[in-house]
Amino acid sequence: MRIGKIDIDRPVILAPMEDVTDRAFRQLCKRHGADIVYTEFISAEALRRGVEKSIRKISVADHERPVAVQIFGNTVESMVEAAAIAETFDPDYLDINFGCPVKKVAGKGAGAALLKEPEKLSAIASAVAKAVSIPVTAKTRIGWDHDSINITEIVRRLEDSGMQAVAVHGRTRSDMYKGTADWDRIAEAKSACSIPVIANGDVWTADDAVAMFARTGADGIMIGRGSIGNPFIFAQSVSLVREGVRLPAPTYRERIRVAIDHMRLSVEYKGEKHGILEMRRHYATYLKGLPGVSKVRNELVRELDPVAIVELLESFEAHCEALEREGRLTESGEYLNDHSPRLILNYQTNTNPTTI
Ligand SMILES: Cc1cc2nc3c(=O)[nH]c(=O)nc-3n(C[C@H](O)[C@H](O)[C@H](O)COP(=O)(O)O)c2cc1C
Repeated sequence: MRIGKIDIDRPVILAPMEDVTDRAFRQLCKRHGADIVYTEFISAEALRRGVEKSIRKISVADHERPVAVQIFGNTVESMVEAAAIAETFDPDYLDINFGCPVKKVAGKGAGAALLKEPEKLSAIASAVAKAVSIPVTAKTRIGWDHDSINITEIVRRLEDSGMQAVAVHGRTRSDMYKGTADWDRIAEAKSACSIPVIANGDVWTADDAVAMFARTGADGIMIGRGSIGNPFIFAQSVSLVREGVRLPAPTYRERIRVAIDHMRLSVEYKGEKHGILEMRRHYATYLKGLPGVSKVRNELVRELDPVAIVELLESFEAHCEALEREGRLTESGEYLNDHSPRLILNYQTNTNPTTI
């Protein structure tokens, strides 16, 4: 798939996610194999006004490349001005959000609301494409609701407006995140235009990634929620899609280590106080299913000192290791209680069966 100078065979991309894809998470996903990463969406209005939070969101680092900055807005003027500001932060490309369903965006005529105003969508896309010298792409949904699915018209318009690729989330605005993404509509979008199409929606495993490429014929795929607490999905998907090689599930040690890495990056980029506070909602997803997770999580969310957090996570790792030695936890983090047939099987193979 080619976007400007970027040329990657079947890329697996980190989707833009507000309050998730900050610099720390982008870097983490990059380390774990994401081919391209996106910033959180940034309001064109806020960017124009120089709001500090938006400036922080738009700052990208060289080690994240290729990285795309995403902006949203409801007027040609604000989007053109925001695009020019965004370009000065030197992303590899600029992405326009035409898919956000939430009230604070779509309710104000931006994001997915522009699917109801195709002329205005075209006007914004072409004005932005002309305003900057970096490539411009768009991300959208398949329509406003199920009575007005217009993704084929939309992708043709985006192509005609100079977009160099389009990411399609296979849901309508009214679906929000309900039901399942319609990959067949993404396939229709792919057939309707000749710019690269990036398929998005409901990739939770590497097998889903392979299936999405096959079903949609897309040039790239984008993973959002499936990467939260699980950046391993990128290397697993890239390996299975491009090499046909299935990587093993991460071990509990790797999951604990990634939580430590994420916390350290979060502190590095946001400072100790904010970095620690923002990490609090992530521990449970990294440690999901491990024995004693709720206890350690309760301790982690009370702690403010990064050194103490690392110690807590390391002692949780030691606790898991002890359980593994006793045959009660597998390396991949599967907890075997006393009634589990797997545990009995372990005893049968490792000890004298008569002792059971
Ligand atoms: C917490 C959260 C925040 C999101 N923020 C954005 C955003 O800023 N820009 C955007 O285009 N999409 C945003 N999305 C949508 C995702 O990029 C993606 O299209 C959607 O989650 C479907 O993909 P998935 O099934 O892989 O999660 C967000 C989704 C979630 C769950």
